[in-house]
Amino acid sequence: MTQAAPSAVAKPARDGFTSSFGVLAATLGSAVGLGNIWKFPYLTGANGGAGFLLVYLVATLLVALPVMISEIMLGRRAKADAVTTLVRLAPRRQPWWLIGAFGVLAAFLILAFYSEVAAWVFAYIFKAAAGDILTTDPAQASQSFASLVSDPVASLAWQWVVLLLIGGIILMGVSKGIEAVTKKLMPLLFVLLIVIGVRSLTLPGASAGLEFLFAPDFSRITPAVVLTAMGLAFFKLSIGMGTMMTYGSYFRADENVPATALRVMSADLFVSMLAGVAIFPAVFAFGFKPEAGPSLLFITIPAVFANMPFGQLFLVLFFVLAAIAATGAMLSILEVPVSVMSERLGVSRKKAVVVNLALLAVIGSVCALSNSLTAHWTLFGLNAFDLFDYVSSNILMPVGGIGLTVFVAWVWGRPRFEEALSNGGRLANRGVLDVLFFVTRWVTPLLILAVMLKGLGAF
Ligand code: PHE
Repeated sequence: MTQAAPSAVAKPARDGFTSSFGVLAATLGSAVGLGNIWKFPYLTGANGGAGFLLVYLVATLLVALPVMISEIMLGRRAKADAVTTLVRLAPRRQPWWLIGAFGVLAAFLILAFYSEVAAWVFAYIFKAAAGDILTTDPAQASQSFASLVSDPVASLAWQWVVLLLIGGIILMGVSKGIEAVTKKLMPLLFVLLIVIGVRSLTLPGASAGLEFLFAPDFSRITPAVVLTAMGLAFFKLSIGMGTMMTYGSYFRADENVPATALRVMSADLFVSMLAGVAIFPAVFAFGFKPEAGPSLLFITIPAVFANMPFGQLFLVLFFVLAAIAATGAMLSILEVPVSVMSERLGVSRKKAVVVNLALLAVIGSVCALSNSLTAHWTLFGLNAFDLFDYVSSNILMPVGGIGLTVFVAWVWGRPRFEEALSNGGRLANRGVLDVLFFVTRWVTPLLILAVMLKGLGAF
């Protein structure tokens, strides 16, 4: 790391990512998570397969990519947490910082349920190692999953394990915590994923699963399904709620932002497809239902590995992989409120981590217990787990996406946009920026608005 120039009032240099590989590992670590391995397969399964996938792809290109680039760009320019970034960059007294504040709220809602899914994943590593879950019988697989999620003590205990783990890493800081950990874990994740994908493709009956994933049936595509696909794009690329702004603030000045975003998007898509390829062949080969919902991963994956040599080992590896993916993503979610609290309120990082974890333990417990003690706490027919999931992906993040693109393209304006994304003219990407600015100004915000209103049944 370079030393700040000596001066009488030297502030300690702000922590940040130290290399391009570190930037990529951390950002990809944020994007790739349970969104790819758990949510993407079950939503694709529940919404008809390839048709859903196609809508998701369009949303990723026209909505998610421009939002991600805008967000990283703003954070890198202001070099501050998600609230301060918008306070600094907005014209005086305009309340654009509310986007950052909503982001903090979204971060809490997401971590509350996400840490519980991660809790199941961590628990499954041990169940797999003990040989408890290796079965191709759908009834038995569902039964062992149900017994875990309806056990209040196990649900809470595993959630706390997860929260303490990510709290500990966040406490170590940005370069020594987030960057160092994701640099080790991400390469491992890719190796594991390829090994498991190949194994699943060689199952007898794999082709029915591939057909489901790649042959579109458009009759299933309703406005609500389109909103779900768009919400998934927001969720998977960690955008619309301040994460990418916060990580962008740790980017170095010479990083090529559009290229990094494109790389992260492609790699994230690749991971989702591999997860789909690992899961759907097994669904069809063993007679599971693709519509199983959130439990899909936990009941089908054991079947992929049952009856094969070293199946138990592969099963343990798979849940290790999912745990790795979940960890990188949770780090980036927790960093949002922690950085806002420590930078805006001037409290130490340690105190910010402790306070946020304590809050999360409370809010998260409502989700952890939503299949047992708090199951009857419902709103609009959804328990806390489903409600937090729905509201964050389908309302808060898309609204954040509208706010960010409108701010960038209408308030901040073209010259700054061009200056920021070409690194002060050092990158010759003028043509790309022309297209990107047009999409960010017109296509993305209007598309999000239309999909949201239609999907929520406003017209
Ligand atoms: N992108 C992460 C995943 O796919 C989830 C996430 C959402 C991370 C929002 C950060 C912010 O699992």
